[in-house]
Amino acid sequence: MSEKVIIAGPASQLLAMRTAKELNIEVINCEFKTFPDGETYIRFNVDDDSVLKDKEVIIIQTTGASSSADQNKRIIQLFNMISATKRMNSKKITVVVPYLAYSRQDKVFRPGECMFAQTLLKLIESCGADELYVIDIHAPEALKVLNIPAYNLNPMKYLAEYLKNEIKVKDPVIVSPDKGAIERSTAFAKFFGENTPIEMFSKERDVITGQIKMVGELKVKGKDVIIADDIISSGGTMATAIQLSKKSGAKHIYAVSTHALLIENAIVRILGAGADMIIGTDTIDNPVSMVSMSKLIAENLK
Ligand code: R5P
Repeated sequence: MSEKVIIAGPASQLLAMRTAKELNIEVINCEFKTFPDGETYIRFNVDDDSVLKDKEVIIIQTTGASSSADQNKRIIQLFNMISATKRMNSKKITVVVPYLAYSRQDKVFRPGECMFAQTLLKLIESCGADELYVIDIHAPEALKVLNIPAYNLNPMKYLAEYLKNEIKVKDPVIVSPDKGAIERSTAFAKFFGENTPIEMFSKERDVITGQIKMVGELKVKGKDVIIADDIISSGGTMATAIQLSKKSGAKHIYAVSTHALLIENAIVRILGAGADMIIGTDTIDNPVSMVSMSKLIAENLK
């Protein structure tokens, strides 16, 4: 076995295989199940505990909820994988968590909260990670809690290339669904040309009910609009942004998100609101994961 090896976490099998192909390195897969009492079991599919000895091990496991496992199970699997790699005397453990669950719980919004994003990051470190890679984390400042090197990879180039080359979007207006997304939208707009216009809504979310309020008039009449956000969860933010863009006269609307979680009826909400397409990446494995992050991960791990 070569010096480096990828462990394909149950939640990121496709992305792990694609990344391994880019890097031309071997993959170890996992056996996993849930015990009758609900506990999570996972082991590497190896015959011998010595296979990881002195190896540089890259663990790829996303932590988004899917139909087969929720985020908590994905996180426990991840902790298990890091701990097992450590126990097997590897030389270095690189952990790639394409989508970091709980990343939106990075601040104290109401008294009594714990900022679980930072807690989760510390737990990843304490399991034995030597370095961490995430993709388009909701708020990169959360990574500062770590004492190991941590990198937030930017997927924008790959999403923009897909829209330009595959969907043939030309001269779009980039719409930022809220103030928090303006930096992302500005960076994204540059891939379509220096003078690509950016429009923004004002969004407020009720911290207790989660209800959002969005207002704003956009200069998008007759234009192709790309609404780019880090996460689509319930689809509420995106659907509201689409409705307002439609009202302002947008021609085509593309709902773009790094992490398209698409919980419950988010697809219907977004397409029903008038989007032509939903485009996501394979940080989350689902039918809209059209843009692979394997090249982005591989070029950073090389
Ligand atoms: C919030 O600040 C995020 O960037 C997303 O806009 C939000 O998490 C999306 O959630 P939902 O799809 O439930 O509106």
